[in-house]
Amino acid sequence: MNIEEVSQLIKSRQSLYPPQMQAGAKIPDEDIWKLLENANYAPSHKRTEPWRYVVFSGDALKEFFDKMGEIYKEITPQEEFDASKIDKFRAKGETLSHLIAICMKRDPQKRVPRQEEEYAVACSVQNILLSMKALNIIGYWGTGKIAFSKQMKAYLNLAEEDQCMGFLQLGVPKEGLPDIPKKQMSGIETKVEWK
Ligand SMILES: Cc1cc2nc3c(=O)[nH]c(=O)nc-3n(C[C@H](O)[C@H](O)[C@H](O)COP(=O)(O)O)c2cc1C
Repeated sequence: MNIEEVSQLIKSRQSLYPPQMQAGAKIPDEDIWKLLENANYAPSHKRTEPWRYVVFSGDALKEFFDKMGEIYKEITPQEEFDASKIDKFRAKGETLSHLIAICMKRDPQKRVPRQEEEYAVACSVQNILLSMKALNIIGYWGTGKIAFSKQMKAYLNLAEEDQCMGFLQLGVPKEGLPDIPKKQMSGIETKVEWK
């Protein structure tokens, strides 16, 4: 593998969303396992390997989005509540192929600071995001109040010190999906101080 190939993979990764997916089309479970296998090769301080994943597909995926609606209702103040969101959750359940809840399992001995465990999980997620291209899988990492709620933590059977870090929402690209140019906000030179 040369640097051009590595750069091409990294630079061609992009977030794509449900409107770009074939509603209801299924990614083979074996391909999801290939993503997860690569996820397991991320670095972690003291080798705590804090990434945990919960995979939802089929009926479990639909139930997941029902649960999202329930939690949304529970945590949203009445004046901000928007009933159309519940329908949007349901529609996502019909469109996505798999949803993977991204979880951080805190080292029981707390040998490293909590944020280092989160960094390691983010590295693991990037392994997944980069692997998706080769398997013709599209999707994105979504976060938000529901993901971070105590209700979601309970639903995912996480302990108090653990954390749900969001959801990988995955699907099959629509036939003939045109190349969507990836936007880069600013060049790296503007983000580096070299002394
Ligand atoms: C930690 C994290 C959280 C994100 N949360 C959301 C989200 O809640 N909703 C969303 O639409 N995209 C979310 N994204 C995806 C970003 O919007 C996306 O990465 C960004 O627009 C850059 O586009 P690209 O991934 O194609 O480079 C998240 C990305 C990261 C890394």
